[in-house]
Amino acid sequence: MALEKPLGHLRLGVNIDHVATVRNARGGAYPDPVRAALLAQEAGADGITAHLREDRRHISDEDIDRLMEALTVPLNLEMAATDEMQAIALRHRPHAVCIVPERREERTTEGGLEVAQDENRLAHFIAPLREAGCRVSIFIAAERAQIEAAHRIGAAVVELHTGAYCDAHAEGRLAERDAELERLREMSAFAHELGLEVHAGHGLTYETVKPVAAFPEVMELNIGHFLIGEAIFRGLAPAIAEMRRLMDEARA
Ligand code: PXP
Repeated sequence: MALEKPLGHLRLGVNIDHVATVRNARGGAYPDPVRAALLAQEAGADGITAHLREDRRHISDEDIDRLMEALTVPLNLEMAATDEMQAIALRHRPHAVCIVPERREERTTEGGLEVAQDENRLAHFIAPLREAGCRVSIFIAAERAQIEAAHRIGAAVVELHTGAYCDAHAEGRLAERDAELERLREMSAFAHELGLEVHAGHGLTYETVKPVAAFPEVMELNIGHFLIGEAIFRGLAPAIAEMRRLMDEARA
């Protein structure tokens, strides 16, 4: 059964990967994603998300060291389910680890993790992270089978992929957008019923955030690319403040 009342504060995790993308376009040290993270923290981000990719195309190992040192809000480390990443996470023990699928040739995390077909390996993969005290989240498509599998392997959180909803909105496929939104709504309620904490993210913008923020079961949104782009025009703190305002408005 869906919740009838909003759960209160909806957390905003700001993803700073694409500050590092701009830095890495030239090499060198600027712009510094850690500086962006500290600014985001000051501007009201409830957490910082950073994706350490296998190919290190944006965030670097040193960025993770520095984020762990500098932040006072929780760090959500996004990573693929590989031995290398597990060792890095166990060394740092960030507040949260979000397991995402990763393909080198993709531009961004294009789909959710295939949990249902890799259940045994993933259960073993996340066990030491859970024992180390990390809140383990699994990034999945809003599908019943994936949610059930995430629950069975012992994840505390599922993050539902909002990319299909956002793409449909951007491309004017409104019937599909509404169907995707309905799927997200139903699957948020379903995951919550199983006892999972529900997060959502990918591709969210000022235009698409409110309907997702209004789902009472959703506790956290992770937003990056749009905010870093918007920061070019209005600055990072005002860009975040506007997202925060829209989220609060949707939640009220
Ligand atoms: N959540 C997860 C699990 C992601 O992989 C990403 C992209 O790195 C995001 C949220 C943020 O997506 P975007 O940068 O499109 O806002």
